[in-house]
Amino acid sequence: MSLPDPAQWWRDAAIYQVYVRSFADADGDGIGDLRGVHDRLGHLAGLGVDAVWLNPWYPSPMADAGYDIADYRDIDPVFGTLADADALIADAHERGIRVVIDLVPNHCSDRHPWFRAALAAEPRSPARSRFWFRPGRGPGGDLPPNNWVSHFGGPAWTRVTEPDGRPGQWYLHLFAPEQPDFNWDNREVREEFLDVLRFWLDRGVDGVRIDSAAILVKDPFLADADPGAPHPYTDRDGVHEIYREWRRVADSYPGGRALIGEVWLPDARRFALYLRPDELHAAFNFEFLTSPWDAQALRAVIDETLAAHAPVGAPATWVLSNHDVTRHVSRYGRAETGFDFADRRHGEPFDLDLGTRRARAAALLSLALPGAVYIYQGEELGLWEVEDIPGALRQDPMWRRTGGADPGRDGCRVPLPWSGLEPPFGFSPADARSEPWLPQPAAWKDHTVEAGEADPSSMLELYRAALRLRRSEPGLRSEREPLHWIDAAHGVLAFRRGDDVACVVNLSGAPVALPAHESVLLASAPLEDGRLLPADAGVWLRLRRH
Ligand code: NOJ
Repeated sequence: MSLPDPAQWWRDAAIYQVYVRSFADADGDGIGDLRGVHDRLGHLAGLGVDAVWLNPWYPSPMADAGYDIADYRDIDPVFGTLADADALIADAHERGIRVVIDLVPNHCSDRHPWFRAALAAEPRSPARSRFWFRPGRGPGGDLPPNNWVSHFGGPAWTRVTEPDGRPGQWYLHLFAPEQPDFNWDNREVREEFLDVLRFWLDRGVDGVRIDSAAILVKDPFLADADPGAPHPYTDRDGVHEIYREWRRVADSYPGGRALIGEVWLPDARRFALYLRPDELHAAFNFEFLTSPWDAQALRAVIDETLAAHAPVGAPATWVLSNHDVTRHVSRYGRAETGFDFADRRHGEPFDLDLGTRRARAAALLSLALPGAVYIYQGEELGLWEVEDIPGALRQDPMWRRTGGADPGRDGCRVPLPWSGLEPPFGFSPADARSEPWLPQPAAWKDHTVEAGEADPSSMLELYRAALRLRRSEPGLRSEREPLHWIDAAHGVLAFRRGDDVACVVNLSGAPVALPAHESVLLASAPLEDGRLLPADAGVWLRLRRH
């Protein structure tokens, strides 16, 4: 099979996010691995996705599930080997699936050789200048150098013990203390990452998802931040300069290599500013992801997203879930349907049927919008957030560092159910020596890939049908085919893509009549009396006969 639109494939691709440790475990240690992904490529090909994005696979002490990298040019033994990665990339390509890897340039692991060298070196040494080491404030330097706080709770600074045994400088970590921030003003850091980029592009990866892409460059004065201000430490001009260099490297490779930024800003007008024709190609749409299930709010996000991306020549992206947020089946089944990083609303009542109905409609909505779409593993199975993981089994530093105030992200990272009627649901082999690294709900027996394949009305079959149509209908697929809103009742989203296809999503709370159409291509729920679109359902319509 040939790969689609080689030059700019990311503009309209359906990209499936593989959270490697929770996808499939081939070696029986209870943790997903690359052979597990490789063995299950058939699922992804059958689903009809164009690319996969794999969460970090590098050697790591796993203080933050692999976002603390000790070696950027290898694979963690828990996931496999470089040979496994090569084989996975080659086989994915054989099947027409592109491979995007996760690169984490803002910080490394405290076990990275550069950080070990920095700890062993003197204050103000070249080894320390690759990071942000500073003396503390107050008597004896006992207070952190500024008031910045870590995204995982607590101060963004940790004090080191100097080689002579005395309490010494502090180093900056915008995430966990095990994730020291690099100093991107240091040329060596820049060169190192250009080299890492080449290392993986040489191995055939089709792009990188760049973690914390917007926060690499800090204010060199490390001034105190205004509480509540977003990204107080970023210098956008500096960030542009970095990605212009990355882009020159990416563009020197054949076949189209994507630079996709994780710019953690819930506002399209702001994150799109990080995209430019000669820099990052695309960024994740956190505004869409965080939006409540409300027609007006979603329409505003869609319009704002398209308007913000057009002038920078970048494709919009549509994301409902990922490994950091509450799964959308759960969000949409609660009274408050938006997502807020500050409050995950675990423990609030949720209606699984309602959440599932809305998630089905949201799938048709996001897959009909112009641009690239991201599918987080398990959303095609209708999985929900697991909120009752016992504290002793939770792994996320967010949970630990906030003393349990923030439940963290384990609930969306529970290993996938593939088959069978009880855990591990085929996630691990039958003779596995360990249980899955997080416990799976017994009720997932009805949400395995096997169960989905046996039920024509499953979420899995809806995703398969939608992705198939998205591929075969140029009006739906082509990112350059503009969206035109169609007049519709209050609470209803209705738009046309080209002259042939329309999408209608009913958030009005009552059944609605459909606009004139030739036929129904796909519906997330059966139409009432064969003609009314029920509440919380979506439909794709053929507008005219071919
Ligand atoms: C964003 C990643 O998506 C998240 O999982 C990680 O913890 C932080 N960046 C830090 O790398």
